[in-house]
Amino acid sequence: MLRFLDSGESHGKELTAIIDGFPSNVPIDINNINKEIEYRMMGYGRGLRMGIEKDFVEIKSGVRGGKTLGSPITLSIHNLDYKNFSDVMDMGKEYDNKIIVPRPGHADLNGALKYNFNDIRNVMERASARETAIRTAVGAFCMELLKIFDVKIVNRTISIGNIFDNDEVNMQDDRVLKKIMSSNVFCYDNEKEKDMINAIDDAKQNGDTLGGCCQISAFNIPVGLGSYSFYDRRADYRIGGALMSVQGVKSVEFGEGISASKSKGSMMDDEISIKNGIYNRLTNNAGGIEGGITNGMPIVAKVYMKPIPTIKKEIQTVDLYGNKVKDRYERSDTCAVPALGVICKNVMSYELCRLFLEKFSGDCLEDIKVSYDNYLRRVKRN
Ligand SMILES: Cc1cc2nc3c(=O)[nH]c(=O)nc-3n(C[C@H](O)[C@H](O)[C@H](O)COP(=O)(O)O)c2cc1C
Repeated sequence: MLRFLDSGESHGKELTAIIDGFPSNVPIDINNINKEIEYRMMGYGRGLRMGIEKDFVEIKSGVRGGKTLGSPITLSIHNLDYKNFSDVMDMGKEYDNKIIVPRPGHADLNGALKYNFNDIRNVMERASARETAIRTAVGAFCMELLKIFDVKIVNRTISIGNIFDNDEVNMQDDRVLKKIMSSNVFCYDNEKEKDMINAIDDAKQNGDTLGGCCQISAFNIPVGLGSYSFYDRRADYRIGGALMSVQGVKSVEFGEGISASKSKGSMMDDEISIKNGIYNRLTNNAGGIEGGITNGMPIVAKVYMKPIPTIKKEIQTVDLYGNKVKDRYERSDTCAVPALGVICKNVMSYELCRLFLEKFSGDCLEDIKVSYDNYLRRVKRN
């Protein structure tokens, strides 16, 4: 079974992940992983932190001669900002300047009460979305396996604030994808890109922040990943839950989920067809998953992020000693929606890789290929 654990504080020495259950003999190109890490740092609207960090991944175990060994894989990303926080983060000496004012919209207060802390930094350091850097690396690592089976996962910004770029585009087309990934906000339309940047600038000038929505699409996913048999084996539970877990995400929609709730059954059923012996659907309103199982159509998820909660406006809060006070401002992003798309693409990659390995399990890549080819032959009709 594929699994991973990650650790590390936002301003600690490094972020680390250990991946277990990854098969042997999978070629790994670290440049592909670092490309995703780089995309995560890009995107208009980020704050000072991304100017400090120049993230790159180190593979510390589990890979030799360019291929996986089947043993645990250790990935790490150093926090360059640690040098500015070494006394704050010292493992031995308690730091005097404690944070006692919780920010609304964060884990600050709930975390401090739950773990009985008198310094909110203990919460902030791990609750921070900095953790998504290493999760992105894990997903990008998994992509090295998935791409051998022609799986392609792509992201696109659909909206920032109330600026929408949601016209249908062919995200399987490399030229379209190149255009999206060279946009400053990872959207398709150049005019909408300008509007989104202006909206971010306006919000920043007003001490405010913005959220938005990203689309993640996965292509060439075989029919049969996940199961209807139990709730936690459902592909929508697994992928949806993982996307929901990304910091700031408040809603996940598969296919036409939201408009489906306002439609009639006759308008939403995806009629079944067959082409060259392979089953498909005439439409993809379900977003590639029916009954908890992938149906061979692209998996399409829209992920909705709330506005960044830390704002430069005074808001009411109550400190750890029960005193009503005004909010405290921390260095912060104005908008992280472009980064969200990159993170969610890689989060989906990890979950799909896990589902894939459950279906086509094997200790080495060669066994997985045999299992995959046999299965595709079995589900084909002549
Ligand atoms: C890439 C990324 C960057 C983020 N940057 C910030 C930030 O600079 N300031 C902030 O207040 N929240 C930021 N957030 C959102 C918070 O991490 C998140 O709202 C908070 O941890 C509370 O979690 P919840 O919104 O899921 O409940 C960011 C989220 C992501 C995904």
